[in-house]
Amino acid sequence: MLELAQRMVFCALVCSVYARASCPPRCECSEAAHTVKCVSKDLRSVPAGIPGYTRNLFITGNHIGRIGPECFQGLDNVTNLSLSNNRISEVESHTFAGLRSLRYLDLSNNQLTSIHPEGFSVHNHSLRELNLSRALYNHSAVTDLAMSLRWSSLGSLQVLDLSGNGLIFLPLHIFAQLGRLRRLQLSNNSLVAIHNATFRGLERLEELDLTFNTLKSIPEEGLRELDDLPAASRLLLGDNPFTCTCAIEPLALWLNGSRGRVRDAEGLACAFPPDMRNVSLLAAADLTLGCHQRAAGADLALQTSYVFLGLVLGLVGLVFLFVLYLNRKGIKKRVNEARDACREVWEGYHYRYEMDSDPRLSQVSSCADA
Ligand SMILES: *[C@@H]1O[C@H](CO)[C@@H](O)[C@H](O)[C@H]1NC(C)=O
Ligand SMILES: *[C@@H]1O[C@H](CO)[C@@H](O)[C@H](O)[C@H]1NC(C)=O
Ligand SMILES: *[C@@H]1O[C@H](CO)[C@@H](O)[C@H](O)[C@H]1NC(C)=O
Ligand SMILES: *[C@@H]1O[C@H](CO)[C@@H](O)[C@H](O)[C@H]1NC(C)=O
Ligand SMILES: *[C@@H]1O[C@H](CO)[C@@H](O)[C@H](O)[C@H]1NC(C)=O
Ligand SMILES: *[C@@H]1O[C@H](CO)[C@@H](O)[C@H](O)[C@H]1NC(C)=O
Ligand SMILES: *[C@@H]1O[C@H](CO)[C@@H](O)[C@H](O)[C@H]1NC(C)=O
Ligand SMILES: *[C@@H]1O[C@H](CO)[C@@H](O)[C@H](O)[C@H]1NC(C)=O
Ligand SMILES: *[C@@H]1O[C@H](CO)[C@@H](O)[C@H](O)[C@H]1NC(C)=O
Repeated sequence: MLELAQRMVFCALVCSVYARASCPPRCECSEAAHTVKCVSKDLRSVPAGIPGYTRNLFITGNHIGRIGPECFQGLDNVTNLSLSNNRISEVESHTFAGLRSLRYLDLSNNQLTSIHPEGFSVHNHSLRELNLSRALYNHSAVTDLAMSLRWSSLGSLQVLDLSGNGLIFLPLHIFAQLGRLRRLQLSNNSLVAIHNATFRGLERLEELDLTFNTLKSIPEEGLRELDDLPAASRLLLGDNPFTCTCAIEPLALWLNGSRGRVRDAEGLACAFPPDMRNVSLLAAADLTLGCHQRAAGADLALQTSYVFLGLVLGLVGLVFLFVLYLNRKGIKKRVNEARDACREVWEGYHYRYEMDSDPRLSQVSSCADA
């Protein structure tokens, strides 16, 4: 028993000495370059014993499922950490909190499904760049992502790469705590709309990349959101399936007035409908005219419908006359009958009149009347 304890103490000593002086197995260490690389070595966890001088730490292309704070102890000097291509699915609370000098964190090409709200917290707000390109397993992880971007005290973050994550929408206020962010990479997602308050809080954002998404248009609400980015001078919108119907009008007009800020404005083109394919979106600003012509056309249509109504009424009149013509014999007969009736009435009247004008008869009649 004592022997075992002795052996364990000895081993612990050896290990710590080994760790300080040397390099973890399956890794390459360069003290001169302050760099440690453990690349594609089928590691299942972050190796222990990474030397304290390390500034650049690359643990990439392995099979590390989850990472937590115990993985990165005593690594005060690490400024660059790359954990790309590791099939990481879970980031625990304060995983990187021990890395007091961390500035660049690359978690690209992983399969994150679970991120603790304080997963990215680094104690003294030192983190400048966070690469989460193709890091999420699918869009469902966006809720965790939004929480951690808000709760991980990333107030000094300047660059955030969220490209290639299959994001369909961005939760409101997702970037609200990133007041120093300068570059936001959102390309190659499946974003369909930009809503109110999506980019709220990005007071210093200079560059926003929305290329390779599924924006069919950007209605007024989204345009206002883009206009509300006070420092944004490099917006990229290319390779979206813009649909050039009248609904594109606000975007096309806005684009015409924002050429300075939308760096790829000249290259933006309609994708639908087929007859508008490849038509420049700027040229589609003239579509405005088309739409207004269509409005004027509506008046024309109204006038046309009046003319049509007139024609129909005329036709009905003609038919009526034609029916009268066809029935002309019956009508003649009836007219004759009416005339005969009239004549009888007239003659009767005439007869009475003559009787009235005869004084004798008049007397008789008056007696009869009485
Ligand atoms: C970090 O680097 C400094 C100077 O290069 C060194 O003195 C210090 O011991 C290093 N920290 C650790 C934990 O090794
Ligand atoms: C650390 O990463 C940043 C950004 O990726 C890079 O500009 C810088 O050169 C890296 N530093 C070292 C020492 O590799
Ligand atoms: C993030 O990582 C991907 C590849 O892993 C790289 O192509 C991209 O340039 C990186 N983003 C930034 C902002 O450095
Ligand atoms: C963070 O803290 C470490 C050591 O505590 C220090 O070396 C580093 O400069 C600090 N970073 C910032 C941005 O203050
Ligand atoms: C993301 O993947 C999980 C696990 O496979 C699945 O349950 C969920 O439905 C997926 N979400 C989306 C939006 O595809
Ligand atoms: C977009 O992402 C997919 C996978 O998410 C990738 O295969 C493709 O190369 C990316 N395209 C661009 C232009 O980055
Ligand atoms: C967006 O904001 C405007 C006013 O700023 C408001 O009129 C509109 O209803 C909002 N839209 C949504 C979907 O909240
Ligand atoms: C659209 O333009 C691209 C390149 O600019 C070209 O490859 C494609 O054939 C064009 N499509 C049509 C329908 O003109
Ligand atoms: C585009 O902007 C220019 C001035 O920048 C203006 O003269 C022109 O009328 C605008 N085009 C449309 C369709 O509004």
